[in-house]
Amino acid sequence: QLPAEPMLDTTETLEGLAAQIRTCTACPLHCSATQAVVGEGPADARIMVVGEQPGDQEDLAGRPFVGPAGQLLHKALGEAGVDRGALYLTNAVKHFRFRLQGRRRIHQSPDVGHVAACRPWLEQEIALVRPKLIVSLGATALRALDGPGMAMADVRGTSWTVGTGENAVRRLALAHPSWLLRLGEGAQGNAERRNFSKGLTRLREFL
Ligand code: URA
Repeated sequence: QLPAEPMLDTTETLEGLAAQIRTCTACPLHCSATQAVVGEGPADARIMVVGEQPGDQEDLAGRPFVGPAGQLLHKALGEAGVDRGALYLTNAVKHFRFRLQGRRRIHQSPDVGHVAACRPWLEQEIALVRPKLIVSLGATALRALDGPGMAMADVRGTSWTVGTGENAVRRLALAHPSWLLRLGEGAQGNAERRNFSKGLTRLREFL
């Protein structure tokens, strides 16, 4: 049984928000993870990229997207002509979820309770950064942003607008780079990596 929400004080800066996230105990993942991994990037970034959760290397480094999936993302961003430094990078869930296999920590996807417990942090990041484009990577980020009924197969590679007027935000749903790594070098992997790179070129109009 998970508590409904983390303790959420009024936070007016990303630094203040980060300090709260680092002490979050709203779900059990804080017990086993090394640390919470908070978002990173300019406070006024026009583009926010939302992943699933920190991986093994992110958990140790305390920074998002520094492991193998992050390296794929950064390479693809470079190829798409998008400067990583212009983006605010974060995750739907801020603590690493894993199971132990001997000494190895094997990634486990967060469940709906973990995503729900972390959602107020993501909402707060969006409210502070006010991006014009939010890119979700994979199903967990998609569902955290748009609801549990969303399916990657229906929206992968597509974009749509949420809200109206000044509050309008463009959404773009892309594959998760870990999934692309798992697909390997075969025909499907090559095709999906091409789709991913093509999707990333759409970030350029928001820079
Ligand atoms: N995968 C994610 O979704 N986020 C990270 O920060 C690293 C790997």
